[in-house]
Amino acid sequence: MSNSFKTFLKHTAKDFHNQSVNPPVVRASTIIFKSMKHIRKTQDKAKKNPIGGHFDYGRQGTSTTYILQKILTKLEESYHVFTTPTGFGAVFLAIFSVTRPGDEIIAADPVYSPTRLLTENFLKEFNIKTTFYNPHDLKTLEKAITKKTKLIFVENPGSNTFDFQDLGKIISIAKKNKILTAIDNTWGTPYYLKPIKLGFDMSIVSATKYYSGHSDVMGGSLAVNKKVFNQVKNAERITGLRLGPDDAYLITRGLRTLDVRLDRHRENAKKVAEFLSKNKKIKLLYPYKKDSYNFRMWKKYYSGASGLMGLKIKSKNINSVRKFVNSLKLFGYGYSWGGFESLALHQEFRETGARKYLKLAKDEHLVRFHIGLEDPKDLIADIKQALRHLK
Ligand SMILES: Cc1ncc(COP(=O)(O)O)c(C=O)c1O
Repeated sequence: MSNSFKTFLKHTAKDFHNQSVNPPVVRASTIIFKSMKHIRKTQDKAKKNPIGGHFDYGRQGTSTTYILQKILTKLEESYHVFTTPTGFGAVFLAIFSVTRPGDEIIAADPVYSPTRLLTENFLKEFNIKTTFYNPHDLKTLEKAITKKTKLIFVENPGSNTFDFQDLGKIISIAKKNKILTAIDNTWGTPYYLKPIKLGFDMSIVSATKYYSGHSDVMGGSLAVNKKVFNQVKNAERITGLRLGPDDAYLITRGLRTLDVRLDRHRENAKKVAEFLSKNKKIKLLYPYKKDSYNFRMWKKYYSGASGLMGLKIKSKNINSVRKFVNSLKLFGYGYSWGGFESLALHQEFRETGARKYLKLAKDEHLVRFHIGLEDPKDLIADIKQALRHLK
């Protein structure tokens, strides 16, 4: 009998040796052996089986990080998962592993703004050029391909504007041209979308968000297929970008309830979306409206939706938009998302990055909501009272 992933998450990582339902936190710089012979034996095993969890020094991880990697590998249905100290560390590791001076990257225009800074500005100094494609017009992606293109970097949906893309088509364009692919899958997590199964070579999740679920830890994961495993493994070794055991433990603890929390985020977000969709000043940036391209692309690839959404607000009165956001009582104002709590942000232009294809009119404003696990009736009542200020 093979259990579903929901059951696996509850039953995995038990520690029968210490009789604890949770795994121990093994903190170590020095890993101690009975003899030099034992050290060499472990090193031989690590050489033969590089994903096997054989450690001779703490920077390689301990059993605590390895347990998390094994759980995530199963969730991702990937060849292996590397864990990093932040989600952005996983973005960096993916790109650094497969690009070299002279190469080119093509990235989705609405990538997370630090990803844009990394590719467009920082990597330029290393003679790695990045061009950006329109997520809703893949001809712009095809046109950007040159002999030097090494990597297509996707983020789905697009950061802040929540553009859903035709992922299958992107993969087939990449395969036809022998280009590697990476996707930032933080919004959906592999609970709702399994990029490696779909054909991506690398898939990134900021574990800071839904994996942890409690806004008290930073971490990242990079799932890979067999093709890129050695390249990423080498880059991981060189950069030392590895998650510490305490953070790994907290993320493993959060994962126990990933399915329960995400199901509830989805239900709550759907109710809030239903309410917001009736407001004529607001265009919902969330897979809700059935006849939209975004909805069709979401439906084609995802088995669910998370709690992060955008509101494109049409108003000539920016102060009334600010007042609407500032009048929310149950929503905290702060960065990150994916925790149990609801959050709101009025997005400044710099937070959407220097995009080529984002055309916000002067009277259009972006607001981001993370819909938490509170009672949705309370959240809707709160939004309703705040909306009185929107002119
Ligand atoms: C889509 C996306 N990817 C990556 C990151 C970076 O993750 P972290 O904050 O864990 O470094 C974030 C953070 O907000 C994000 O929203």
